[in-house]
Amino acid sequence: MTNGAYPQIRMRRNRRDHWNRRLVRENNVTVDDFIWPIFVAEGQGKKEEIDAMPGQFRWSPDRIAEAACEAADLDIPAVAIFPEIEKAKKDPDGSEALNPHNIVVQAIKAVKAEAPDIGIVCDAALDPFTSHGQDGLVREGYVVNDETVEVLCQQSILQADAGCDVISPSDMMDGRVGQIRKALDEAGHDHVRILSYAAKYASAYYMPFRDAIGSSTFLGQGDKKTYQMDPANTDEALREVALDIQEGADMVMVKPSLPYLDVIRRVKDTFQMPTVAYNVSGEYSMLKAAGERGWLDYDRAMMEALISFKRAGADAILTYSALEAARLIQCGYEG
Ligand code: PBG
Repeated sequence: MTNGAYPQIRMRRNRRDHWNRRLVRENNVTVDDFIWPIFVAEGQGKKEEIDAMPGQFRWSPDRIAEAACEAADLDIPAVAIFPEIEKAKKDPDGSEALNPHNIVVQAIKAVKAEAPDIGIVCDAALDPFTSHGQDGLVREGYVVNDETVEVLCQQSILQADAGCDVISPSDMMDGRVGQIRKALDEAGHDHVRILSYAAKYASAYYMPFRDAIGSSTFLGQGDKKTYQMDPANTDEALREVALDIQEGADMVMVKPSLPYLDVIRRVKDTFQMPTVAYNVSGEYSMLKAAGERGWLDYDRAMMEALISFKRAGADAILTYSALEAARLIQCGYEG
């Protein structure tokens, strides 16, 4: 033994007892950290399990408040609402996004009525509504920026009018945070917050989500590499975040999260902004699948993933596991 500190110093002493491990724990996951994404679909009386996301459901507008109430009962601060739009309503310009009676608007109103204290987050993006599955308008084969941003501004106002508390631009168009801020303010929504998907990567981990909202079949072999970020880059993520802060973002998001813990850490260290990790669908589904096969203990692997986001510097986590984690925490989960 060449370490001169030993045997006086034994790192294992602080790990010996449960009470001691609790005392020296550096990070904690609490229910305060969670935003739970929920899915709304056309129809009535519907609660339909999503194939690629066991344990997650598509709710019709008349039932979605049940999901929000479950979250509210567990004291989860917010839900994020995502729509599955039926094929007949999709078109190249995603015009259903601006229908003042679309299912997002219906869901916002239903949740506000039944669970008035829970925060509501909604995407500003067109992919659930477009027949090609892209987040914006396509002109001559290219997802155009400025014209898309104009639509996103109108979509944001529509959602804010319905009662949405947080607009979350997930499209990665340039300049959209500033334009949406301006549009919201002009429409009298200066209290509506913007949670920007600031560093969003062109990732393979969104596939179960695209199944959930039915955009994958429309996107086909298409990809989103001309607007979402290259997984190889981190300096670029800092530039993206800096711009969104400058344009007025209240909170910034890194997405996905497990393969991008380094990005979360750099963003938090550089900007000290409220920083949100999106524990995306593929991260959820892979743990679920392994858990179902008995290859992993799902609860433990999931809680370990959540603590990794806190360790990396995240203040909040969008996670499909929010209800499960909240219940475990409530029961005194210790790992
Ligand atoms: C749409 C959007 C996506 C997700 C959230 N908003 C998918 C995408 O960009 O293709 C992914 C969420 C997840 O995988 O859990 N702009």
